[in-house]
Amino acid sequence: MSDDEKDREAAPETPAGRKLDRRDVLLALSTVPALGLFGYAWRRQRGYEEMQRESASPAKAGAPDLSEINVALLGAGAQGQVLLDSMLRIPGLRFRAVCDIWKEYNQKRAVNTLRKYKFDVHGYEDYREMLDKEKDLDAVVVATPDFWHAPHAVDCLKAGKHVYCEKEMSNTLEGARSMVIAARESGKLLQIGHQRRSHPRYLHCYKKLLGEARLLGRIVTVNGQWNRAVGPDIGFPERYAIPADRLKRYGFKTMEQFRNWRWYKGLGGGPIVDLGSHQIDIYNWFLGAAPAHVMASGGLDYHDPKTHEWYDTVMAVYEYETPAGSARAYYQTQTTNGSQGYFESFMGDQGTLVISESEANYPGFLYRDPNAPAWDEWVRKGYVSAPKVLEAKPEGEESTLDVRESVSPDLHRVPVVLRDPYHQPHLENFFDSIRGKATLNCPAEVGYETAVTVLKVNEAVEAKQRLSFRPEEFKV
Ligand SMILES: NC(=O)c1ccc[n+]([C@@H]2O[C@H](COP(=O)([O-])OP(=O)(O)OC[C@H]3O[C@@H](n4cnc5c(N)ncnc54)[C@H](O)[C@@H]3O)[C@@H](O)[C@H]2O)c1
Repeated sequence: MSDDEKDREAAPETPAGRKLDRRDVLLALSTVPALGLFGYAWRRQRGYEEMQRESASPAKAGAPDLSEINVALLGAGAQGQVLLDSMLRIPGLRFRAVCDIWKEYNQKRAVNTLRKYKFDVHGYEDYREMLDKEKDLDAVVVATPDFWHAPHAVDCLKAGKHVYCEKEMSNTLEGARSMVIAARESGKLLQIGHQRRSHPRYLHCYKKLLGEARLLGRIVTVNGQWNRAVGPDIGFPERYAIPADRLKRYGFKTMEQFRNWRWYKGLGGGPIVDLGSHQIDIYNWFLGAAPAHVMASGGLDYHDPKTHEWYDTVMAVYEYETPAGSARAYYQTQTTNGSQGYFESFMGDQGTLVISESEANYPGFLYRDPNAPAWDEWVRKGYVSAPKVLEAKPEGEESTLDVRESVSPDLHRVPVVLRDPYHQPHLENFFDSIRGKATLNCPAEVGYETAVTVLKVNEAVEAKQRLSFRPEEFKV
């Protein structure tokens, strides 16, 4: 038995019946003043399980008001499956349809999954046929390749459905614009899938740490990255290949292109759009501004141009005029080395926040600069953990410290853990908004601002120049 397995064996159980592992215990110990927030994850899990039990027996007295929402999934590929797994944990949803052009594979898998859960679902190849036949649908969750988002979202909105549409909102600004207009004109909700906007850790940082406590002081620089190791192109089982005429009907030239659409101009936006949009969205959100200028360097430095049209490496610098003053933000994405993964880092004159969606690598670190006022109040309130006590080095191993060297800042943790799948809170926010119990965390206008911010990087790479944004560019 490994150490971890032994720890789990001996560990206490959470109210949800899941055993606490060593990581949970260490985290709890390092966040003792913040037990209120650690307990948040438990309470949330318990709440979710209670909701599920209650919705399974709706006749029970005191069951919450969970008016049923009829849902279709449009695009049942890798991300469609991830969203479906999250949605299956949300009470009150009735799945009615799955639309996917890969009938023999992805569509079949999603339909079979839903039938196992006793949903009476129909499979469709053409989304227009689905909209014609499924009159009772309330909401459509779109997870098709980026170049399909605008036609799919616009037609669903026009048919009177609420839409959750994956990022990137669209691979073109015209497409993204048409989505904002369709949402406005239809009066239906359009949530864009920048799921960090509903992540409890990001919300805690935005509202409590940056907003109320102003722990970082004035943010002057930002940096972030998504580094991904070299990986093979995505394949497919030969016997389930889509016939050429169907591929063509939906805008794909070959099965290889259909599977690796992200790398092709006209279908996706390359890694800077695919990966960067998540994080650059957070730059705008946390800085409280859209950028004024961008410069970028990028190219196809490594991959085969026959199968990769977009840049595999991009480094971009944004210049912001924020309400607090000027700020500069660097972002890099590369696909030849996965070192240090993905994170965003906000640096102010009083502290630094390093944050990521990844629970494993960057669950939220805060460094208090030595010149900043004490954070005791925020530790007491449970907003941040107590500072990590630096271990003393064994005698004889101390290095000689130059007195002019700056002293390391204190390290604190952001004591918020998400135990649900990453996309669940954002989907819950969407369905709660349909029920009138919340407002969207990433409505069309916000998604549009991010699309303008991100798509300009590809233009700047092409132009080899610093490009400016006009403030009116961000508005529809
Ligand atoms: N929010 C996130 O963290 C996140 C993560 C991954 C992907 N995504 C986004 O999700 C979307 C899908 O990405 P993916 O990785 O699942 O791609 P994928 O290629 O695995 O899946 C796309 C699916 O859409 C289907 N499809 C293609 N054109 C269609 C059409 N016209 N009508 C119906 N179905 C069609 C395909 O058959 C396939 O099953 C993209 O927009 C991507 O950017 C978001």
